[in-house]
Amino acid sequence: MPDVNSLFRLDGRVAFVAGAASGIGLASAEGLAAAGALTICADINAPGAEQAALGIRARGDRAESMTLDVTDPAAVARSFRAMEEKHGQIHVVVSTPAVNIRKRLLDYTSADFDRVLRLNLAGGFHVLQAAGRHMQARRCGSIILFSSMRAMTVEPGQSIYATTKAGLIQMVRGLAVELGPAGVRVNCIAPGVVETPLTAPIKSKPEWYQAYANRNALNRWATAGEMAGPVVFLASDASSYVTGTVLFVDGGWTAIDGRFAPPV
Ligand SMILES: NC(=O)c1ccc[n+]([C@@H]2O[C@H](COP(=O)([O-])OP(=O)(O)OC[C@H]3O[C@@H](n4cnc5c(N)ncnc54)[C@H](O)[C@@H]3O)[C@@H](O)[C@H]2O)c1
Repeated sequence: MPDVNSLFRLDGRVAFVAGAASGIGLASAEGLAAAGALTICADINAPGAEQAALGIRARGDRAESMTLDVTDPAAVARSFRAMEEKHGQIHVVVSTPAVNIRKRLLDYTSADFDRVLRLNLAGGFHVLQAAGRHMQARRCGSIILFSSMRAMTVEPGQSIYATTKAGLIQMVRGLAVELGPAGVRVNCIAPGVVETPLTAPIKSKPEWYQAYANRNALNRWATAGEMAGPVVFLASDASSYVTGTVLFVDGGWTAIDGRFAPPV
């Protein structure tokens, strides 16, 4: 029986988080650092990445910052080479960047489509490739990408975003199969509704905000901090036999039919 209390610790490990300047990425970086990992906070928003690392260090945990555009494959590869030179090994990689253009499919322009796929799918692909190459060579590591409950259930205006979130799951499953023999784990987290800058436009519309709260079993939105536990779980030895899976952290959203509550 393993020591359950130490299973979730990440002391001596190096974690990399893309999207660490905001929302779920920031909460992930804070959680990984609090669990003991030296955490590299990467984001296209350079001051935001630096602020994230500063905040973590102010708590007494270890963090560095890095400016990175995940849509640029050469830049992603360069960032992994730089981390290898400095730290030797990266044990945990988390990637969150995504954009949602809410429009009906018939109104989507090719430019909208390209923008959403470029960040959500190609960005994830570039991180998976760079992290996978690094970890395969070292025969260890955990990669965590952020999908969404929209991979399973959709509504008007979300078809292209949902497409990318479903696509990420299949990429993660495929890489998990390919890297399993090398001891590298690859998983997705699929959140429900989480209060972050991405969803701030919904919060400003009380009817919409409340409808989403009522739609899940817990009848509320998640905080970004509630994503940190699942991230630390998938990053750590607590999930040593978990790969190729999707962890729904959606307050029960995808478990519920939602149209009617019978009087039982
Ligand atoms: N917030 C929710 O309710 C929710 C629900 C389901 C899934 N998700 C998923 O969780 C993930 C994180 O969402 P969030 O709400 O924290 O978003 P967010 O908008 O708060 O944060 C995204 C971060 O990614 C960064 N970023 C954007 N483009 C980048 C690029 N090209 N390279 C590097 N960094 C870039 C941004 O600067 C920002 O710091 C997303 O994949 C999103 O689809 C969120």
